[in-house]
Amino acid sequence: MQNFVYEYPTQVFFGKDAAKTHLPDVLANFGPHVLLAYGGGSIKKNGVYEEILEILQAAGKTVTEFTGIMSNPTYAKVQEGAALARSCKADLVLAVGGGSVIDCCKIVAAQAVTDVDLWDLEMNQHKAPVQTPIALGAIVTAAGTGAEMNGGAVITNAEVKIKAGMFAAAPRFAVLDPMYTMTLPASQVISGAFDTLSHAMETYFGRSDQDNVSDAVAEAIMRNTIDNLRIVLHDLQNYTARSNLMWDSAMAENGILKVGRLTDFEAHQIEHQLGAYTDCNHGQGLAVIHPAYYRCIFKSALPKFARFARNVWGIAGQDMTEEQLAQAGIQALADFIAECGLPTRLGQLHSKVEITPALLRQVADSCNTLPNGYKQLTHDEIYGILSACL
Ligand code: NZQ
Ligand code: ZN
Repeated sequence: MQNFVYEYPTQVFFGKDAAKTHLPDVLANFGPHVLLAYGGGSIKKNGVYEEILEILQAAGKTVTEFTGIMSNPTYAKVQEGAALARSCKADLVLAVGGGSVIDCCKIVAAQAVTDVDLWDLEMNQHKAPVQTPIALGAIVTAAGTGAEMNGGAVITNAEVKIKAGMFAAAPRFAVLDPMYTMTLPASQVISGAFDTLSHAMETYFGRSDQDNVSDAVAEAIMRNTIDNLRIVLHDLQNYTARSNLMWDSAMAENGILKVGRLTDFEAHQIEHQLGAYTDCNHGQGLAVIHPAYYRCIFKSALPKFARFARNVWGIAGQDMTEEQLAQAGIQALADFIAECGLPTRLGQLHSKVEITPALLRQVADSCNTLPNGYKQLTHDEIYGILSACL
């Protein structure tokens, strides 16, 4: 195992009525001014907004709203939120939404307390913010990213066309009520769950020389995500399945699977840049990229891909070579993506621009190539992977 330090900053309240039950007590820990942040308005349609506002008012909080946080949140939106947080002297930033709202608020909470340009600090100077951010809470309305249980935020800087991970405020508390996710459209439930599966795979396929209990936990999360995603394909509102998917989502990105091991996350790097250029849905972009990426790298990790086929997809493979078994596992993943109705080609993504070879060249050339997967890609290989998805 790699050496590790594990520390957990987020208090989690899970289950039906978790906000009503726990938020009043939690809010007592923070000052009177709350910046209530949300996206394009889904919480106003499904009653979550009224419920949270009532709890905040009953707790005597002064509420300022920060609205319209878009999917794939931009750095410009972060600056808007930071200015609001400063002007209302927010004691707590309360993010109510999916990964996009939570991520935006993580950087808002850190940017509001400093004049330093955090993008420049993190991306160009490779330094972390030093000031203590405003306290952040997350009320999850869309599962998949696990953003509520980590300190990373994925932000798009539209000026330089880079979508990248930044590090700032981890939520001090997170409310996970599966009922709050029930109004999600099926396509978002599915793409969110695929994002969860991707996080577990990206961690599992990080370079690791030794067996590690984290790999066995990752296999359990992958199997559980697949099983429950299969249930919601036919029974979207199944509470047990939606609860499992919600906790799978948190488990895949709360650091537990990463304990004692290196991680890959190259498919995420490629998807993030694809998102920077096309504004595509994150989980859908990953669904297109993953099989092609794994077909490019699997020969560098045959035993791990064979184990994936056996332990995640249940392929016994007695009559197969290790290479055949590894390929069968990747095919099972590709078949599952099709079974879920997720996009399998780039042309099926709801891109804001036409996806041409020239655009893919720009996407490929702007991707980070990470060192801790089984094979470090070149930009030409990334272009090859993307071209195979056309
Ligand atoms: O904006 P509203 O109106 O709320 O609509 C949203 C949005 O259109 C809607 N929605 C959310 N909750 C709903 C609902 N609609 C009906 N009922 C509800 N209860 O869902 C749409 C998608 O929301 P969004 O937050 O964009 O989706 P997701 O949770 O998939 O987040 C995606 C973002 O998270 C980043 C992605 O890159 C992307 O920018 N990620 C963050 C990670 C992290 N911080 O750990 C890890 C991930 O790998 C990922 O990169
Ligand atoms: Zn993801």
